[in-house]
Amino acid sequence: MSHEVFDRVAEAYDAARPGYPDGLYEALARLSSVSLTGATVADVGAGTGISTRGLLARGARVVAVDPGVRMLARLVARTDSPHVVVGDGNALPLRSGAADLVCYAQAWHWLRPEESIGEALRVLRPGGAVAAWWNSVDLETSASAADWLVAYEVRLAESCPGYSGPALPDWSVPPVAAVMTRAGLDVQEAWIRWRRNVSVEDFLLDMRSHSFVAALGDDVVDRLVRRERVELLKVFADGALTVPMRVYLAMARKAEA
Ligand SMILES: C[S@@+](CC[C@H](N)C(=O)[O-])C[C@H]1O[C@@H](n2cnc3c(N)ncnc32)[C@H](O)[C@@H]1O
Repeated sequence: MSHEVFDRVAEAYDAARPGYPDGLYEALARLSSVSLTGATVADVGAGTGISTRGLLARGARVVAVDPGVRMLARLVARTDSPHVVVGDGNALPLRSGAADLVCYAQAWHWLRPEESIGEALRVLRPGGAVAAWWNSVDLETSASAADWLVAYEVRLAESCPGYSGPALPDWSVPPVAAVMTRAGLDVQEAWIRWRRNVSVEDFLLDMRSHSFVAALGDDVVDRLVRRERVELLKVFADGALTVPMRVYLAMARKAEA
Protein backbone atom coordinates (compact mmCIF):
# COMPACT_ATOMS: atom_id res chain seq x y z
CA MET A 1 0.00 0.00 0.00
CA SER A 2 1.38 3.40 -0.94
CA HIS A 3 0.59 4.98 2.40
CA GLU A 4 2.83 2.46 4.17
CA VAL A 5 5.85 3.78 2.25
CA PHE A 6 5.03 7.28 3.43
CA ASP A 7 4.39 6.18 7.00
CA ARG A 8 8.00 4.89 7.09
CA VAL A 9 9.36 8.33 6.19
CA ALA A 10 6.80 10.52 7.94
CA GLU A 11 9.39 12.39 10.03
CA ALA A 12 11.66 13.16 7.06
CA TYR A 13 8.65 14.14 4.96
CA ASP A 14 7.37 16.48 7.61
CA ALA A 15 10.73 18.07 8.27
CA ALA A 16 11.99 18.60 4.76
CA ARG A 17 9.33 18.61 2.03
CA PRO A 18 8.62 22.06 0.60
CA GLY A 19 5.37 23.91 1.09
CA TYR A 20 3.45 25.49 -1.76
CA PRO A 21 3.93 29.09 -2.90
CA ASP A 22 1.31 31.82 -2.41
CA GLY A 23 0.79 31.75 -6.19
CA LEU A 24 -0.65 28.25 -5.96
CA TYR A 25 -3.33 29.25 -3.47
CA GLU A 26 -4.07 32.42 -5.44
CA ALA A 27 -4.49 30.42 -8.68
CA LEU A 28 -6.65 27.88 -6.87
CA ALA A 29 -9.06 30.55 -5.58
CA ARG A 30 -9.08 32.49 -8.86
CA LEU A 31 -9.66 29.54 -11.20
CA SER A 32 -12.21 27.82 -8.95
CA SER A 33 -14.09 30.96 -7.87
CA VAL A 34 -14.02 29.41 -4.39
CA SER A 35 -12.80 31.90 -1.80
CA LEU A 36 -10.60 29.95 0.58
CA THR A 37 -11.70 32.10 3.51
CA GLY A 38 -14.49 30.15 5.19
CA ALA A 39 -14.52 27.39 2.56
CA THR A 40 -15.06 23.78 3.63
CA VAL A 41 -12.19 21.82 2.12
CA ALA A 42 -11.49 18.10 2.00
CA ASP A 43 -7.71 17.70 1.77
CA VAL A 44 -7.37 14.15 0.46
CA GLY A 45 -3.98 12.53 0.98
CA ALA A 46 -3.23 15.23 3.53
CA GLY A 47 -0.15 13.44 4.83
CA THR A 48 1.72 15.41 7.48
CA GLY A 49 -0.41 18.48 6.76
CA ILE A 50 1.71 20.64 4.45
CA SER A 51 -1.30 21.40 2.24
CA THR A 52 -3.72 21.36 5.20
CA ARG A 53 -1.78 24.09 6.99
CA GLY A 54 -1.52 26.14 3.79
CA LEU A 55 -5.30 26.02 3.42
CA LEU A 56 -5.96 26.71 7.11
CA ALA A 57 -3.64 29.71 6.98
CA ARG A 58 -5.87 31.15 4.25
CA GLY A 59 -9.01 30.81 6.34
CA ALA A 60 -10.39 27.47 5.09
CA ARG A 61 -12.06 24.87 7.32
CA VAL A 62 -10.18 21.72 6.41
CA VAL A 63 -10.92 18.03 6.89
CA ALA A 64 -7.69 16.09 6.38
CA VAL A 65 -8.15 12.57 4.98
CA ASP A 66 -5.35 10.01 4.71
CA PRO A 67 -4.96 6.26 5.33
CA GLY A 68 -1.47 6.81 6.76
CA VAL A 69 -1.71 6.88 10.53
CA ARG A 70 1.88 7.99 11.11
CA MET A 71 1.60 10.74 8.52
CA LEU A 72 -1.59 11.96 10.19
CA ALA A 73 0.04 11.78 13.62
CA ARG A 74 2.60 14.31 12.41
CA LEU A 75 -0.22 16.46 11.05
CA VAL A 76 -2.01 16.39 14.41
CA ALA A 77 1.19 17.21 16.28
CA ARG A 78 1.95 20.23 14.11
CA THR A 79 -1.47 21.72 13.33
CA ASP A 80 -3.78 23.82 15.50
CA SER A 81 -7.23 22.21 16.02
CA PRO A 82 -7.02 19.78 13.08
CA HIS A 83 -9.99 17.80 11.78
CA VAL A 84 -8.59 14.46 10.75
CA VAL A 85 -10.18 11.35 9.29
CA VAL A 86 -8.29 8.13 8.65
CA GLY A 87 -9.70 7.12 5.31
CA ASP A 88 -9.31 6.28 1.66
CA GLY A 89 -9.69 8.86 -1.09
CA ASN A 90 -11.31 6.24 -3.31
CA ALA A 91 -14.22 5.94 -0.85
CA LEU A 92 -14.29 9.20 1.07
CA PRO A 93 -15.72 8.95 4.57
CA LEU A 94 -17.51 12.27 4.05
CA ARG A 95 -21.12 13.08 3.38
CA SER A 96 -22.40 14.07 -0.06
CA GLY A 97 -22.61 17.71 -1.09
CA ALA A 98 -20.69 18.96 1.95
CA ALA A 99 -17.51 20.45 0.52
CA ASP A 100 -16.71 23.64 -1.39
CA LEU A 101 -13.39 22.20 -2.47
CA VAL A 102 -11.86 18.73 -2.66
CA CYS A 103 -8.13 18.81 -3.20
CA TYR A 104 -5.25 16.44 -3.64
CA ALA A 105 -1.86 18.02 -2.98
CA GLN A 106 0.87 15.76 -4.33
CA ALA A 107 -1.51 12.87 -3.73
CA TRP A 108 -3.98 12.11 -6.54
CA HIS A 109 -1.55 9.80 -8.37
CA TRP A 110 -1.81 7.38 -5.41
CA LEU A 111 -5.57 7.00 -5.90
CA ARG A 112 -7.64 5.10 -8.42
CA PRO A 113 -8.29 7.67 -11.16
CA GLU A 114 -11.99 7.37 -11.99
CA GLU A 115 -13.16 6.35 -8.53
CA SER A 116 -11.42 9.20 -6.77
CA ILE A 117 -12.82 11.88 -9.09
CA GLY A 118 -16.28 10.28 -8.78
CA GLU A 119 -15.96 10.49 -5.02
CA ALA A 120 -14.85 14.13 -5.17
CA LEU A 121 -17.91 14.98 -7.26
CA ARG A 122 -20.17 13.20 -4.78
CA VAL A 123 -18.71 15.10 -1.82
CA LEU A 124 -18.74 18.52 -3.52
CA ARG A 125 -21.67 20.90 -3.40
CA PRO A 126 -22.96 22.10 -6.78
CA GLY A 127 -20.53 24.76 -8.03
CA GLY A 128 -17.73 23.45 -5.82
CA ALA A 129 -14.33 22.57 -7.24
CA VAL A 130 -11.96 19.63 -7.36
CA ALA A 131 -8.26 20.41 -7.63
CA ALA A 132 -5.03 18.47 -7.82
CA TRP A 133 -1.53 19.88 -7.73
CA TRP A 134 2.07 18.77 -7.63
CA ASN A 135 5.27 20.52 -6.71
CA SER A 136 8.26 19.41 -8.72
CA VAL A 137 11.75 20.57 -9.50
CA ASP A 138 11.85 22.68 -12.63
CA LEU A 139 14.39 21.43 -15.14
CA GLU A 140 13.04 23.71 -17.87
CA THR A 141 14.18 26.93 -16.26
CA SER A 142 17.16 28.78 -17.75
CA ALA A 143 19.79 26.18 -18.55
CA SER A 144 22.56 27.34 -16.22
CA ALA A 145 20.28 27.54 -13.15
CA ALA A 146 19.23 23.93 -13.59
CA ASP A 147 22.51 22.24 -14.64
CA TRP A 148 23.23 20.84 -11.19
CA LEU A 149 19.59 19.82 -10.79
CA VAL A 150 19.51 17.94 -14.09
CA ALA A 151 22.65 16.07 -13.04
CA TYR A 152 21.12 15.30 -9.62
CA GLU A 153 17.88 13.97 -11.11
CA VAL A 154 19.78 11.82 -13.61
CA ARG A 155 21.84 10.30 -10.78
CA LEU A 156 18.62 9.59 -8.83
CA ALA A 157 17.01 8.00 -11.87
CA GLU A 158 20.06 5.74 -12.31
CA SER A 159 20.12 4.76 -8.63
CA CYS A 160 16.42 4.21 -7.94
CA PRO A 161 14.59 1.52 -9.95
CA GLY A 162 11.23 3.08 -9.03
CA TYR A 163 12.30 6.63 -9.93
CA SER A 164 9.56 8.83 -11.34
CA GLY A 165 10.47 12.36 -12.26
CA PRO A 166 11.61 14.84 -14.87
CA ALA A 167 14.82 12.99 -15.72
CA LEU A 168 12.73 10.38 -17.55
CA PRO A 169 12.24 11.23 -21.24
CA ASP A 170 8.56 10.29 -21.17
CA TRP A 171 7.79 11.85 -17.77
CA SER A 172 4.73 14.04 -17.48
CA VAL A 173 2.37 15.23 -14.81
CA PRO A 174 -0.23 12.65 -13.71
CA PRO A 175 -3.23 12.50 -16.08
CA VAL A 176 -5.75 14.09 -13.73
CA ALA A 177 -6.90 16.62 -16.34
CA ALA A 178 -7.79 13.82 -18.77
CA VAL A 179 -9.68 11.92 -16.08
CA MET A 180 -11.59 15.06 -15.06
CA THR A 181 -12.44 15.69 -18.71
CA ARG A 182 -13.70 12.11 -19.10
CA ALA A 183 -15.92 12.78 -16.06
CA GLY A 184 -17.55 15.58 -18.07
CA LEU A 185 -15.74 18.44 -16.35
CA ASP A 186 -14.28 21.59 -17.87
CA VAL A 187 -10.66 21.60 -16.68
CA GLN A 188 -8.39 24.57 -16.15
CA GLU A 189 -4.64 24.14 -15.72
CA ALA A 190 -1.89 26.41 -14.46
CA TRP A 191 1.86 26.25 -13.87
CA ILE A 192 3.25 28.31 -11.02
CA ARG A 193 7.02 28.81 -10.95
CA TRP A 194 8.89 29.56 -7.73
CA ARG A 195 12.30 29.16 -6.12
CA ARG A 196 13.04 27.21 -2.99
CA ASN A 197 15.89 28.19 -0.68
CA VAL A 198 16.95 25.18 1.33
CA SER A 199 20.06 23.82 3.04
CA VAL A 200 21.88 20.84 1.54
CA GLU A 201 21.00 18.81 4.65
CA ASP A 202 17.28 19.54 4.35
CA PHE A 203 17.41 18.82 0.62
CA LEU A 204 18.94 15.41 1.43
CA LEU A 205 16.26 14.77 4.05
CA ASP A 206 13.64 15.66 1.44
CA MET A 207 15.31 13.14 -0.91
CA ARG A 208 14.88 10.42 1.75
CA SER A 209 11.13 11.11 1.89
CA HIS A 210 10.46 10.27 -1.76
CA SER A 211 8.73 6.93 -2.11
CA PHE A 212 11.17 5.66 -4.76
CA VAL A 213 14.12 6.46 -2.47
CA ALA A 214 12.50 5.07 0.69
CA ALA A 215 11.81 1.82 -1.17
CA LEU A 216 15.59 1.18 -1.51
CA GLY A 217 16.03 0.28 2.15
CA ASP A 218 17.99 2.07 4.88
CA ASP A 219 21.57 1.05 4.03
CA VAL A 220 21.25 1.89 0.36
CA VAL A 221 19.57 5.20 1.19
CA ASP A 222 22.35 6.10 3.63
CA ARG A 223 24.96 5.47 0.90
CA LEU A 224 22.93 7.55 -1.56
CA VAL A 225 22.73 10.42 0.91
CA ARG A 226 26.51 10.34 1.49
CA ARG A 227 27.18 10.37 -2.26
CA GLU A 228 24.74 13.20 -2.92
CA ARG A 229 26.10 15.30 -0.05
CA VAL A 230 29.53 15.18 -1.71
CA GLU A 231 28.07 16.02 -5.15
CA LEU A 232 25.93 18.90 -3.93
CA LEU A 233 28.68 20.46 -1.84
CA LYS A 234 30.89 20.53 -4.95
CA VAL A 235 28.38 23.02 -6.40
CA PHE A 236 27.11 24.72 -3.23
CA ALA A 237 30.14 24.87 -0.96
CA ASP A 238 28.30 27.04 1.59
CA GLY A 239 25.60 24.38 1.99
CA ALA A 240 22.75 26.60 0.74
CA LEU A 241 20.76 25.65 -2.35
CA THR A 242 18.34 27.57 -4.52
CA VAL A 243 16.09 25.09 -6.28
CA PRO A 244 13.98 26.10 -9.30
CA MET A 245 10.49 24.69 -8.69
CA ARG A 246 7.11 24.66 -10.35
CA VAL A 247 3.64 23.61 -9.31
CA TYR A 248 1.21 22.09 -11.78
CA LEU A 249 -2.44 22.72 -10.89
CA ALA A 250 -5.50 21.13 -12.52
CA MET A 251 -8.90 22.30 -11.37
CA ALA A 252 -12.52 21.77 -12.42
CA ARG A 253 -15.88 22.91 -11.08
CA LYS A 254 -18.88 20.70 -10.48
CA ALA A 255 -21.93 21.95 -12.38
CA GLU A 256 -24.32 24.22 -10.53
CA ALA A 257 -27.57 22.46 -9.60
C1 LIG B 1 3.14 12.77 -1.24
S1 LIG B 1 2.02 12.69 0.14
C2 LIG B 1 1.18 14.27 0.06
C3 LIG B 1 0.92 14.86 1.43
C4 LIG B 1 0.41 16.29 1.48
N1 LIG B 1 -0.85 16.46 0.78
C5 LIG B 1 1.42 17.30 0.97
O1 LIG B 1 1.05 18.22 0.27
O2 LIG B 1 2.60 17.17 1.31
C6 LIG B 1 0.83 11.57 -0.48
C7 LIG B 1 -0.15 11.13 0.58
O3 LIG B 1 -1.18 10.37 -0.06
C8 LIG B 1 -1.59 9.40 0.87
N2 LIG B 1 -2.36 8.34 0.22
C9 LIG B 1 -1.91 7.20 -0.35
N3 LIG B 1 -2.95 6.46 -0.76
C10 LIG B 1 -4.08 7.15 -0.46
C11 LIG B 1 -5.47 6.90 -0.62
N4 LIG B 1 -5.92 5.77 -1.19
N5 LIG B 1 -6.36 7.81 -0.16
C12 LIG B 1 -5.92 8.96 0.41
N6 LIG B 1 -4.61 9.25 0.60
C13 LIG B 1 -3.70 8.36 0.16
C14 LIG B 1 -0.30 8.92 1.52
O4 LIG B 1 -0.51 8.28 2.76
C15 LIG B 1 0.45 10.25 1.66
O5 LIG B 1 0.25 10.82 2.93
